[in-house]
Amino acid sequence: MISGYAVFPALNAALNAASAVLLVSAHGMIKRGRILLHRRLMLSALATSSLFLLSYLYYHAHVGSVRFSGRGWSRPVYFSILISHTILAAAILPLVMVTLSHAFRARFPAHRRIARWTYPLWLYVSVTGVVIYFMLYHLFAT
Ligand code: HEM
Repeated sequence: MISGYAVFPALNAALNAASAVLLVSAHGMIKRGRILLHRRLMLSALATSSLFLLSYLYYHAHVGSVRFSGRGWSRPVYFSILISHTILAAAILPLVMVTLSHAFRARFPAHRRIARWTYPLWLYVSVTGVVIYFMLYHLFAT
């Protein structure tokens, strides 16, 4: 790997991990009726996920794709996680926009209905982002 870019995978994984922690905290807050904290934590999760996306695109635009060098059982596991992660990541963007738009217009029943999809899918994408990082750069790195 080109050394100047070596920090990016760990940075990206940290941003994904931060999003996951913020999402779980935001969910915990709304369950306790703390609307303002729920709002702040969700907007922070949006900030860390957006930073991740920018950093991810910048890194891969410069370094290209990174091959998975695991063998045997690790390959179907890795690619199942990667494919589900990628498909759901694309779905997250419009889902988050619609969920936020309902919240900002105070349409809370509609917000809640769609958020029940947005929240677990976004969490899955953030957590699998960290799993992919460890599999690709640590557990099965050559
Ligand atoms: C994309 C970001 C957001 C996500 C993923 C999200 C997620 C959720 C989820 C999953 C629930 C339902 C919790 C449950 O009952 O199980 C919920 C409820 C709620 N959210 Fe959000 N939220 C987001 C942003 C916001 C924002 C910016 C506000 C602004 C005030 C907000 C206000 C509320 C309120 C008031 C409820 C309670 C609705 C009700 O019980 O009728 N949310 N949210």
